[in-house]
Formats: sequence, structure tokens, C-alpha cells
Amino acid sequence: VCIRQATVDDLIAMQTANLWCLPENYQMKYYFYHILSWPQLLYVAEDYNKQIVGYVLAKMDEEENDVPHGHITSLAVLRSHRKLGLATRLMTHAQFAMKTVFGAEYVSLHVRKSNRAALHLYKQTLGYEVNGIEAKYYADNEDAYDMRKQLQEKA
Ligand code: ACO
Repeated sequence: VCIRQATVDDLIAMQTANLWCLPENYQMKYYFYHILSWPQLLYVAEDYNKQIVGYVLAKMDEEENDVPHGHITSLAVLRSHRKLGLATRLMTHAQFAMKTVFGAEYVSLHVRKSNRAALHLYKQTLGYEVNGIEAKYYADNEDAYDMRKQLQEKA
């Protein structure tokens, strides 16, 4: 399985993988908005049959009064391809590009409190820390952890 930058031709497969894996879904125009604005921040995992088996959709946050920082909008790996390190590799690629291409000082994301697999990945594997809790963040009222990882030394 290889990790490569996504192209416009991958967006349908990314949206399909998202629909299979997560209840948080997005219109196709939101995928286009990401790839047109930050093409370096979308990666796919492609198997030897050229099937997309995982993706990361990321962006730069645009709040005026904060330092430049990235945000992981969505990450998923198909069930058949989990626990092979693919999510770790997808995340590492997006984080590196945020830092080197866009000068991100940190990267943030939201994750469900109950999502054990993702919490292990973010905390233990990738070194994210809990920055806060967003009560009832999700449509079904589950709380989110607001997580962050520093990418550059603070000035
Ligand atoms: N339970 C406990 N630990 C787990 C689990 C699990 N079910 N799955 C993976 N891990 C651990 C791995 O053992 C590994 O640990 P290590 O680094 O200590 O060896 C670490 O997490 C990373 O594993 P990867 O193989 O890189 O992760 P994987 O490719 O399996 O993908 C993911 C993890 C993305 C969470 C996958 O399970 C998935 O797609 N889940 C459904 C969608 C989802 O929850 N996405 C994240 C939502 S949050 C957001 O999008 C911002």
C-alpha cells in the first residue's frame, strides 16, 4: 500500500471511504474546497489494485488572530486495512506538509470521546494532547476532545 498526495480524481473514492467509516459526512464541494485551497494536505492510501483504502483530509485554519495552524478535518482507513500503520503514515504526511509548506505551528483535531482506536493513534502514537472538551460537539450529542500537537518550537 502506498501513500500519495490525492488528486481531484480521488475525491469520489475519498468521499465513499468516509461514508463507510464515519457518521460525519461532507458534500463533494467541501472536498473540492480542501483540494483547491491546500492540495498538499490531502493524502490517500492506495493498494496494489489502485483501490483507495484510506485518506486524510486536512486544512489550514483561517482564524485571523491566531498563529498559523493546521486542522485534520477527517481521517479514515477501511476496516480491511486497519492496524497496518496506514493512518499513522497518512497523518505523518499531512503534518509534515502543514509545517513545511504552510508554516503551521500546531495541528488540531476533534475526536469522539468513545473512539478508542483514534485516541490511541493520536495520543500514544502521534503525541497529541487534549486541549479541551467540546460538549455535545457531534450531531448525536457525544462530546469531542479538542486535541493538539505542536509542530514547531514556540518562538
Ligand atoms: N484499539 C486500540 N488501538 C488501536 C486500534 C483499536 N481498535 N486500532 C489501531 N490502534 C492503534 C494501533 O495498534 C497503533 O498503535 P501503536 O502505534 O502503539 O502500534 C496505532 O493505533 C495506529 O494504528 P494505525 O494502524 O496507524 O491505524 P489504522 O490505520 O488502523 O487507522 C483509524 C486508525 C483511522 C482510527 C481507523 O480505526 C478508522 O478508520 N476508524 C474509523 C474512522 C475514524 O474513527 N476516524 C478518525 C475520526 S477523528 C477525525 O477524523 C479527525
